[in-house]
Amino acid sequence: MPKIVIAIDGYSSCGKSTTAKAVAARMGYAYIDTGAMYRAVSLFFSREHVSLSNTGDVLNALDKIHITFNFNGRTGKNETCLNGLNVEEEIRTMFISNIVSEVSAIPEVRWAMVAQQQKMGRKRGVVMDGRDIGTKVFPDAEVKIFMTADVETRARRRQQELLEKGEMVNLNDIIENLEKRDRIDSTRSESPLVQAPDAVLLDTSHMAIEEQIEWVIEQADTRLAQI
Ligand code: DC
Repeated sequence: MPKIVIAIDGYSSCGKSTTAKAVAARMGYAYIDTGAMYRAVSLFFSREHVSLSNTGDVLNALDKIHITFNFNGRTGKNETCLNGLNVEEEIRTMFISNIVSEVSAIPEVRWAMVAQQQKMGRKRGVVMDGRDIGTKVFPDAEVKIFMTADVETRARRRQQELLEKGEMVNLNDIIENLEKRDRIDSTRSESPLVQAPDAVLLDTSHMAIEEQIEWVIEQADTRLAQI
């Protein structure tokens, strides 16, 4: 059976990562959460007080960052590791959500992350979610999906996720953060968030997560049958 790349791009909190993770598990593929990588870089920059406008500082800091993913058999969860330490909880806070779009708009940051992502997926057999996977990281991905959903639905899902982690955040603050991130992500000069011409649009506003997973698997099966 050939192995393919499934690229899932789209707006924040559309259910990309939950869908991608489940699809990867069902297909026996690796799952790569590229947003987590930009979040880990943001965490490192904030801890080390890196000046975002100083390219030398940014490049120096990038040299000191090593991001890996670890599957924790005990919890059954994926963990993002920054220089070997699990930072999964810390990178999901509102504090990081508020700085990540600015950090991920820095061209040097993107070049470093894109190179790592291409390396991680070079053997194919991966489901990768992000903003530029189908346009920049794997323009030759066999399956490209562009996810969207109305902002209130996305904000409610995000609020629920944060609540489950013990963080209570006002819905309007989340809407503001999502809209701001969408705006920065879509208008940055280096690989902005856009739908690849050959990506299939999936609006998840009225879809349950199970339906999203089935839909993506169907797309992958159809594509695999053509190879
Ligand atoms: O998927 P997420 O919300 O965890 O991503 C966090 C931020 O990282 C998002 O606001 C934009 C950025 N990002 C990016 O620029 N390119 C990617 N491939 C993935 C995420």
